[in-house]
Amino acid sequence: MTEIDELLEARNRHISTSLSLAHGTPLHIVRGEMQYLHAADGTRFLDLVNNVSHVGHCNPHVVKAGQKQMALLNTNSRYLYQNLTDYLSRISETLPEGLCVGFLVNSGSEANELAVRLARAYTGLYDMAVVDGAYHGHTGMLIELSPYKFRGPGGRGDPEPWVHVLPIPDSYRREGTDFSSEAESALEGAGEVAGLIIETMLSCAGQVPLPEEYLSTTSEAVREKGGLLLADEVQVGFGRVGTHMWAFEESGVIPDIVVMGKPMGNGHPMGAVFTTQDIASSFGSMEFFSTFGGNPVSCAIGSAVLDVIESENLMEAACSLGDRFLKGLHSLMESHEIVGDVRGRGLFLGFEMVRDRATKEPAAEAAVALVDSMRQNGILLSTDGPLHNVIKIKPPMVLSEDDVDDTLAKLDNALTTCGNQTQPRLR
Ligand SMILES: Cc1ncc(COP(=O)(O)O)c(C=O)c1O
Repeated sequence: MTEIDELLEARNRHISTSLSLAHGTPLHIVRGEMQYLHAADGTRFLDLVNNVSHVGHCNPHVVKAGQKQMALLNTNSRYLYQNLTDYLSRISETLPEGLCVGFLVNSGSEANELAVRLARAYTGLYDMAVVDGAYHGHTGMLIELSPYKFRGPGGRGDPEPWVHVLPIPDSYRREGTDFSSEAESALEGAGEVAGLIIETMLSCAGQVPLPEEYLSTTSEAVREKGGLLLADEVQVGFGRVGTHMWAFEESGVIPDIVVMGKPMGNGHPMGAVFTTQDIASSFGSMEFFSTFGGNPVSCAIGSAVLDVIESENLMEAACSLGDRFLKGLHSLMESHEIVGDVRGRGLFLGFEMVRDRATKEPAAEAAVALVDSMRQNGILLSTDGPLHNVIKIKPPMVLSEDDVDDTLAKLDNALTTCGNQTQPRLR
């Protein structure tokens, strides 16, 4: 029995089959090093998937900060300690004025759950609006608020009566649609909602940037009915889009509640909800407490992540590397008929694979084959989107120009092979 077989056998004994493995044939990883993952057989992979390891796998500055704090003090947020307030004020300085009260928790799910509770407590309303294809977390309530799950495999199909689903504003697949009016009439039909929870660049829905004006018109429609705007920045926050720290900023719209997660602790489990004093106080006399949220070790790690973003100019890097990627992907689109669309901002990119550019028939099998072929060439990618044909690129932000160029060259070869195998209908 090989080592991988042994690990698989133990895994199958102790881990539910509802947790699948990434990247097809199981990958046995033993070490992380900035933008790379090292497998047990010595292969080094460029990781273009892991937006959690935002400042690099095992970033030495973050590791040291965690080790140092762990040896000094770890307690909970019912005590006074300097790095809790320092960290909260550092994050709040990156946000629009007024969003100055932070709740620190341990995951994106926990943060979204809390954000919805706050919206309900503040508005006195219960229903929520959400965009189709979205995933907001794994708790009971969030599964019901995640069309990606309730409409996906094993889901109940229809939304619960309190959930109102807005269509995906996908400018590629539904070109020419007036998405703002479409969302407004969906909200009209919904009645009163406590809020709209939305990613300001859609991730699971297929790396879809929101059309211009969409966030402002939709949030206006929600607010007119007394609801709040909840921006889920779990995937796209912390400078990933390059031009701004938070993806919502480009729209000029200020959310009522901002939710953070994944990259916040660079792999250390952290999540947060930032909102106004008013909204934050809406639980009244009911206490809020998270045992681990905002502990000194988490705060040290979170601060170290912010240090690296600043000192290594990672937002500027996301802009220039993202542009390099986009330019290269657009030129691949010119030579490969199977690439139907290229989109994204900064280091949150995607391209859609189609069998036919005119009908946009999805090439999901070719997308899987492409990911597999890239893996054979040492590069990790993944697929997503409602039609499973979008290749996602959301790497650690410490990528080099050579990594981008190498990826584009390998994609060129892999697209040729996958394109030939699936025989897209050329027009
Ligand atoms: C947009 C978004 N929100 C929330 C979550 C939930 O975060 P977590 O897995 O940390 O609970 C995820 C996780 O993938 C996500 O992508």
